[in-house]
Amino acid sequence: MNCVMCVVGARPNFMKIAPLMRSLAQSSVLESYLVHTGQHYDAAMKTAFFEQLHIPEPDEDLGVGSGSHAVQTAEIMRRFEPVLDARAPDAVLVVGDVNSTIACALVAAKKGVPVIHVEAGLRSFDRTMPEEINRVLTDQLSDLLFTTERQAQENLEREGIDPARVHFVGNVMIDTLLDNRPRAPAVADVLAAAGFESGPTGGFAVVTLHRPGNVDDPQVLGQLVGTLEALSRDVPLLFPLHPRTAARLDAAGLMSRAREVCYLLPPLDYLHMLALLQSAIMVLTDSGGIQEETTALGVPCLTLRPNTERPITVESGTNTIVGAERDRILAAARDVLRNGGKAGRIPELWDGHAAERIVAVIEDWFRPSQ
Ligand code: UD1
Repeated sequence: MNCVMCVVGARPNFMKIAPLMRSLAQSSVLESYLVHTGQHYDAAMKTAFFEQLHIPEPDEDLGVGSGSHAVQTAEIMRRFEPVLDARAPDAVLVVGDVNSTIACALVAAKKGVPVIHVEAGLRSFDRTMPEEINRVLTDQLSDLLFTTERQAQENLEREGIDPARVHFVGNVMIDTLLDNRPRAPAVADVLAAAGFESGPTGGFAVVTLHRPGNVDDPQVLGQLVGTLEALSRDVPLLFPLHPRTAARLDAAGLMSRAREVCYLLPPLDYLHMLALLQSAIMVLTDSGGIQEETTALGVPCLTLRPNTERPITVESGTNTIVGAERDRILAAARDVLRNGGKAGRIPELWDGHAAERIVAVIEDWFRPSQ
């Protein structure tokens, strides 16, 4: 048996690793081992996802917690090294673009352990985003790269990565989405769990914000809250708060104003979030994953960022890039309310079977050549 050590760290990793752990468990030639770095640790940011998505308890929890980028990345590396030494896997598999992804890929690569990157080749071409740096570097260190959209392969070739190492397999996050759609509760139950006795009677929009570029500067955050205030006169807004955003709203004295104009919810578990996304008239977000999930669900998405690393969601899907500027957001949102927004179509291979394809390629890759 060849051993694949899988790494997760932050919330958006969990829905990607769930179908991979399941497919790896079904393999007769691979065994898997799960390391959680502890980048995200709260029940709402971690435990709920493991339970709902039936992710096995991590074999190792590094418990790194929060910190500056340098501190967090260094701490993950420091704590991951002895685990890697002790277990000596045949490969380390990392997903996405968070600090845990680059930190563990870097430790493995320097020890000569092959690195497998799931969700490779996505590029926003915006190095002010920490995730972009994580993506570029992780791909450079990887031996086997799995992509979610065809354009990713061109990005990798431009950076000198051998196309023979790149496999277009579809999207593991959409495996999880399709698998769990029937399990999502009613929206009223989500609101009741958050303490709201009644919710919006007609349709609603969902808002998520957590990018440092949108929430860390009080002035930018204040303008966004003002934009939400204007939009809330046209459509009720349901806004699950990421801990980073909650802290920034508090610090900027904006929390009560946000509460007046939105249904503010705590960070939601996977199924509660899915319930909101699939019933929304539209979603306004700065998340990467939600751009893909709304495309798969056929729900119009307005991305409150200047760019996206997931162009397929704009070209084929329901996504429109609007940035963070008030007039553009309001015009785009009102257009969706009047005209229904982009219908979109499901991107190639977003069919619920990406994890199976990935495991088949890994099995082949380990097979000794005749
Ligand atoms: C990280 C990822 C980002 C991803 C996001 C999803 C990086 C560089 N960023 O950003 O790509 O979109 O996760 O959530 O890896 N906190 C808690 N509880 C937790 C975890 C965090 O309260 O369980 C709070 C802490 O105050 C922490 C802050 O959230 O300082 C930010 O957490 P951190 O992991 O540093 O970055 P995210 O903004 O979550």
